[in-house]
Amino acid sequence: MKKIKHTVYFLCLFSFLFSLTNCKGDGKSDKEKEELTTTVSEIDFLTKEDYGTTADGEKVEQYTLTNEAGMEVKIITYGGRITSLKVPNKNNEFEDVVLGFDSISQYTSDHPYFGALIGRYGNRIAGGKFSLDGEDYQLPQNDGENSLHGGDKGFDKVIWTAKLPSDSTSLVLNYKSKDGEMGYPGNLDVTVTYTLNDDNSLDVAYEAETDKKTIVNLTQHAYFNLTGDFNKTILDHEVVLNADEFLPVDETLIPTGELRSVEGTPFDFTEAKKVGKEIEAENEQLELGLGYDHCWVLNDQSDDMHFAASAYDPESGRFLEVSTTEPGIQFYTGNFLDGTLPQQGGEGTYAQRSGFCLETQHYPDSPNQEKFPSVVLNPGEKYSTKTSFKFSVK
Ligand code: GLA
Repeated sequence: MKKIKHTVYFLCLFSFLFSLTNCKGDGKSDKEKEELTTTVSEIDFLTKEDYGTTADGEKVEQYTLTNEAGMEVKIITYGGRITSLKVPNKNNEFEDVVLGFDSISQYTSDHPYFGALIGRYGNRIAGGKFSLDGEDYQLPQNDGENSLHGGDKGFDKVIWTAKLPSDSTSLVLNYKSKDGEMGYPGNLDVTVTYTLNDDNSLDVAYEAETDKKTIVNLTQHAYFNLTGDFNKTILDHEVVLNADEFLPVDETLIPTGELRSVEGTPFDFTEAKKVGKEIEAENEQLELGLGYDHCWVLNDQSDDMHFAASAYDPESGRFLEVSTTEPGIQFYTGNFLDGTLPQQGGEGTYAQRSGFCLETQHYPDSPNQEKFPSVVLNPGEKYSTKTSFKFSVK
């Protein structure tokens, strides 16, 4: 049924696009054309709009995906960023649950990676240095002495090319990163597919291929606030992380190499716990991160989809479950937000801890830590990972 319906949607979209691009000789009366347009706008499963231009004059588009339940996600081609994600609360009221801005100029100037795709290497690489087959590479040091999230102009700040959806529920984004770009070796062809399913899950599938040995670690940097009210913090959210161990960090937030048990520490989220319960506890690791800003070692290290984390906001009833093929998850509690960035669609600003990120990924600094799972991609291999964000109420 679903498939047939989607085929119909696709045909409608195709007819609509065809009617726009081929006004002459399509054999359709104006009335028929109007009917097709109406059908498409009533279904509204995928719309496209201009989202302005960057300071460099690059055009940015925004796509909106909507599912049968009315859940809606908006994604811009600048950084493949999720600008808005509207999901229902327990009273079936739809509100935005991701931090974002109102305009492209805000994304290009003040941007703590809101909603962005992150690459070529998500998270930190010590000193911005790594070696492959005896060759040394130096990346931009954009986080103190370290390289963070792909360097000065990572995948969060480039324009992705949107392709026609493979089906009516997906948006396919492609970016071709050049050999040497931001210091990384190899031409990397990256495709990220966002799929909005009717069960209120948003899947993010990442694929990449290279023509020279390189390193890859892609992730999504949405800041969630399930309350639907950006004036509230996320400290009352009840979080579960399916991890018995986490990676302690040094003073520059690079993992020390130790896999430390969470047992008896504020890092234990094996059972639902309020984010705020121990975030201010006296703990060296919390002091270094200014809160939680660490990678947890997921209990299931397989390449199959496995449960990674959940977050629940008791007041709104919104429940988010994250599953992934990745071995780790960076849980970041918006510690660097400082009340200076303007809220989307509101008058206020984003205060510290008004959003949290659940960045599924390989471990930080893996290229320099032999015991961590490999992030090397060889020519002829296909990088392929997937993460799913499923929303419900309880
Ligand atoms: C990541 C890092 C944080 C911070 C944010 C962006 O999650 O781990 O330390 O840099 O990105 O502000």
